[in-house]
Amino acid sequence: MNALVWRVMSVVGRFGKKLHLIAPQTVHVEDVFRDDDLILDLGGGGEGVIGRLRGRQVVSVDIRKDELDDAAPGPIKVVADARNLPFPDRSFEAATAFFFLMYVAAADRPAVLQEAYRVLVPGGSLHVWDVAIPAPGARAAKTFAVPVCTRLPGRTIRTAYGVPWKGHEMSADGIAHFARDAGFTVAAATQSDRTFHVVLTRPAE
Ligand SMILES: C[S@@+](CC[C@H](N)C(=O)[O-])C[C@H]1O[C@@H](n2cnc3c(N)ncnc32)[C@H](O)[C@@H]1O
Repeated sequence: MNALVWRVMSVVGRFGKKLHLIAPQTVHVEDVFRDDDLILDLGGGGEGVIGRLRGRQVVSVDIRKDELDDAAPGPIKVVADARNLPFPDRSFEAATAFFFLMYVAAADRPAVLQEAYRVLVPGGSLHVWDVAIPAPGARAAKTFAVPVCTRLPGRTIRTAYGVPWKGHEMSADGIAHFARDAGFTVAAATQSDRTFHVVLTRPAE
């Protein structure tokens, strides 16, 4: 979604009943990756933010080919379901989920975290950037959406992410809880306004 659509949604969303649009969020993505890391980007289609950050070091997985086609060239693109990844155990030094888990039904997130854990090497980390989604009230809009201004080193990307509200409630604490169940330790968790960044590490052996 480009900057114009982002602005239109920002205006229309405030008056629509079907869309619950929260205030625009700014997310700073630090480049914490090493030059020899192989990085798995879960739900990496669309804007393909992590692919733009680290190019050929990134394997972008998305369940939809059209979303991968939309993403900028650079990463290796693989059509696959993050709940059942087609990679051997311990394949990646790092993994990322940039505004991806919001697209996964809450009930399916444990499976995604278990798979991320399986394919990471011991000592590897999964970075989750996402938005807190409260439980919808009885009269809640169908769609929950967030305009996001992503600041990468040297560039800014404006877009908006939207999901069915029901069944997609999410919090940093909830993600940390399921991640611990999968075997991760929570190395860091920060919240800024409505968004959060959680770093989950597969313990070294
Ligand atoms: C909008 S994108 C997330 C933002 C993206 N990471 C970026 O950088 O702009 C969310 C993606 O998750 C994908 N997706 C949803 N469920 C999935 C699943 N179970 N496995 C893999 N991809 C999935 C959707 O097809 C969609 O392209």
